[in-house]
Amino acid sequence: MRTVPVLQAVPDSIVNLADHEAHARARLDDNAWAYFAGGAADEISLTANRKAWDGLALWPRVLRPLAGGHTRVQLLGRELACPLLVAPMAYQCMAHADGELATAHAAAALGAGLVLSTQASLPLEQVADAMRSSAGHGPLWFQLYLQHDRGFTRQLIARAEAAGYEALVLTVDAPANGARDRERRAHFRLPPGISAVNLQGMAMAPAVAPGSSALFDSLLRSAPTWEDVAWLQEQTCLPVLLKGVLHPQDALQAARLGVGGLIVSNHGGRTLDTVPATATALRQVSRVLQAQGHGLPLLVDGGIRRGTDVLKAMALGASAVLVGRPVVWGLVNAGAAGVAHVLRLLRDELEIAMALSGCARLADAGPQLLQAQED
Ligand code: FNR
Ligand code: LAC
Repeated sequence: MRTVPVLQAVPDSIVNLADHEAHARARLDDNAWAYFAGGAADEISLTANRKAWDGLALWPRVLRPLAGGHTRVQLLGRELACPLLVAPMAYQCMAHADGELATAHAAAALGAGLVLSTQASLPLEQVADAMRSSAGHGPLWFQLYLQHDRGFTRQLIARAEAAGYEALVLTVDAPANGARDRERRAHFRLPPGISAVNLQGMAMAPAVAPGSSALFDSLLRSAPTWEDVAWLQEQTCLPVLLKGVLHPQDALQAARLGVGGLIVSNHGGRTLDTVPATATALRQVSRVLQAQGHGLPLLVDGGIRRGTDVLKAMALGASAVLVGRPVVWGLVNAGAAGVAHVLRLLRDELEIAMALSGCARLADAGPQLLQAQED
């Protein structure tokens, strides 16, 4: 196993994230593509995520002083070079032999954050070492799926703490997989040698009795509830963030439990189809939390493909954004260099968007950037 990723060149015909997608599509087999690219059912939410960012117009201000501007933000008590984190995504070794290791090296080099999936295809300790090998690395968080075996879950948390992860991200929007039509059409299977290595050794879930529901009588018997959020907070001294919140009432309940932050997400359109786009949900969640005086950090993901999308997310109240599939495209195209390229493109585009809309700092991006006020 390599611990330093191979160096590959990014083709110079790739100048944006859409180019990365087209290039990756041509290189990846149908099986892996169905898994990485697909959404749930009719993929209405997958499409809606993109459309919502595109549908927001920026109202730029001119002639403002821009010297000394920067993309730095504060998040959970530390400063980030830019408000970008890699979203947790399972099985990255299916995109490139270096998998999560390449992603970690790239994120660290660019000062972006990394959220490692419970279903990562490399050991969480190895990924943490890669991330922490760069001095200016961004936040390193561990995404948690609560397992039916709570003893095993506790051990997993202890491993993440020992390895230096700084926060736990509990994913709450996927107690079951969505109806993944694309995956079923492609007869998706994990290739040999790729698995959720950090879950090795966990006891199997009890078998389902004949005639009962594989969902309700097995998987969902251990699905997390609000009580488990409180349980998780007791198990760790790390901040706990919830990922997959859309409804403002859920956001309020989470705020009352004292979570460290919320990630407004619909799992990249992969779980329940026809839910709102995340830009729409972020606006509502942000308004309600603000009205009730809750100042907890809000993050968002889903369809972030341009620097302007990042700026719009900040204007809607986000502290940072997560980027999912484009990281996989970068991995497919050129391993660590490809991921670094994707993150660099987003960061450069964000700087351009800030300069051209009159924002020297991200704190200058507020609701007024998305709505012209006459007074
Ligand atoms: C995901 N996502 C995800 N989320 C999570 O909490 N745990 C996980 O293991 C995974 N795995 C995963 C695999 C793949 C292939 C994708 C595309 C997504 C969801 C992910 O964290 C994020 O919410 C979305 O991907 C964001 O949307 P975009 O940027 O892909 O449009
Ligand atoms: C997915 C799971 C792993 O979206 O969260 O594929």
